Amino acid sequence: MLDLNIPSKEHDESRQGEALVLESSKNHTGRKLYVESYGCQMNFSDSEIVASILSDAGFVTTPDYTEADVVFINTCSIRENAEVRVRNRLKQFGASKVKKPDMLIGVLGCMAERLKSKFLEEEKIVDLVVGPDAYRDLPNLIGKVDEGNKAVNVLLSREETYADINPVRLNSNGITAFISIMRGCDNMCSFCVVPFTRGRERSRDPYSVVKEAQDLFDAGYREVTLLGQNVDSYKWKSGEEESAESVNFAQLLEKVALVSPELRVRFSTSHPKDITDEVLYTMAKYENICKYIHLPVQSGNSRILEVMNRTYDRAWYMEKINAIRRILPECAISTDIITGFCTETEEEHQETLSMQEFVKYDFAYMFSYSERPGTPAAKKFEDDVPEAVKKRRLEEVIALQQQHGYYRLQQHIGKVEKVLIEGFSKKSKEDYCGRNDQNCMVVFPVSETYKPGEYVNVLIERGTSATLIGKVV
Ligand code: 5AD
Ligand code: SF4
Repeated sequence: MLDLNIPSKEHDESRQGEALVLESSKNHTGRKLYVESYGCQMNFSDSEIVASILSDAGFVTTPDYTEADVVFINTCSIRENAEVRVRNRLKQFGASKVKKPDMLIGVLGCMAERLKSKFLEEEKIVDLVVGPDAYRDLPNLIGKVDEGNKAVNVLLSREETYADINPVRLNSNGITAFISIMRGCDNMCSFCVVPFTRGRERSRDPYSVVKEAQDLFDAGYREVTLLGQNVDSYKWKSGEEESAESVNFAQLLEKVALVSPELRVRFSTSHPKDITDEVLYTMAKYENICKYIHLPVQSGNSRILEVMNRTYDRAWYMEKINAIRRILPECAISTDIITGFCTETEEEHQETLSMQEFVKYDFAYMFSYSERPGTPAAKKFEDDVPEAVKKRRLEEVIALQQQHGYYRLQQHIGKVEKVLIEGFSKKSKEDYCGRNDQNCMVVFPVSETYKPGEYVNVLIERGTSATLIGKVV
């Protein structure tokens, strides 16, 4: 299966398999922990919670799995190739375990939840299988393995949000951070494994979210991204009674924006059926809420959207795009697209291309359909579009997106844009990089008069395929 993907904040290719390193640990026992993460930003965020829990239990982290006592791999199940990647990595860990037989190997996250104890049968080197809602149990489960048992906890919860656990910020630039505001997903898109691996949707207490944003701001952070599988269905109530206080996503966004005008706020992911005009007006009201919306379309054809159970059609999606353009004329829009979903015809695929033409997305994450066991699509429909056709359609979608991405990038040239400096550019210590409001990476020369964490106005002079280049004015 072809899985072409451009770097994104949601599913950052360059971070796949990244190991997490903590600076220090209280009451440490000297046991060394290695954690590696795959998949979406939510998984990277969860690894920070795992690190926090195990740091309290006395662990120190190591960037080298060969010297670790406990090796964790936080996994993704979204497409088959994500799982293949994890299986291959486990083989490498297995080779180390031969040399260091008391090494404990644990599988966390979505694949753990999907395969449960079957994992222990299939991969003999695995000692521990822990689903996304069971991380508080990790110290206890490690204890069980120490006693010579294998351990599994894949219970999903209706309440767990880890609201009280202060995630340790890992491999951080000290300027941008992610805050998880909800867990799980109730949408049941027919292709998607997430409702099965992450359970029912639940929203985190808004006061703990605002406090986390405030603490990050006080520690020098200048941008937070509010994370959830479907942020627009965020809904929190203080109690069951009718008079109980309730907070929706637009209200939460406002509370976080009010932490400081100097704190940029982003969010991801929005669902076309749930994003409201109230959210758009809140974005318009606050300069520090970034004008960027990730609005996955998946397909441009109404019949395919129906078999995908997306609960909107082509006209509804276009109406949402019109609302965004009307209320937020400067807003960047990105999307996710799946090609070759069950029964998709050539004409239906053409409608995806025409939707791309209609929106001219700033960015897109594009995939060919990968059947996931146990999902409604796997149960109800035949995966009947040949691999070669899926791949050809994907290539057409990607080629068109490249034109649109280039077109959108060109629109910035000649403008002066506010950029939050994140650090040195990847290529050179003579340049800084940072993002503009619309989430484009901007590169410009280093100077003593400004430093990372500060905002600068950059005149955009030119663009490469994915980056803008300019100078501070
Ligand atoms: N096959 C291909 N792509 C998928 N996605 C989710 N499930 C599948 C699947 N079975 C894509 C969707 C989603 C993104 C996170 O991954 O486009 O929005
Ligand atoms: Fe994230 Fe979905 Fe992968 Fe789970 S399956 S890690 S929720 S992308």
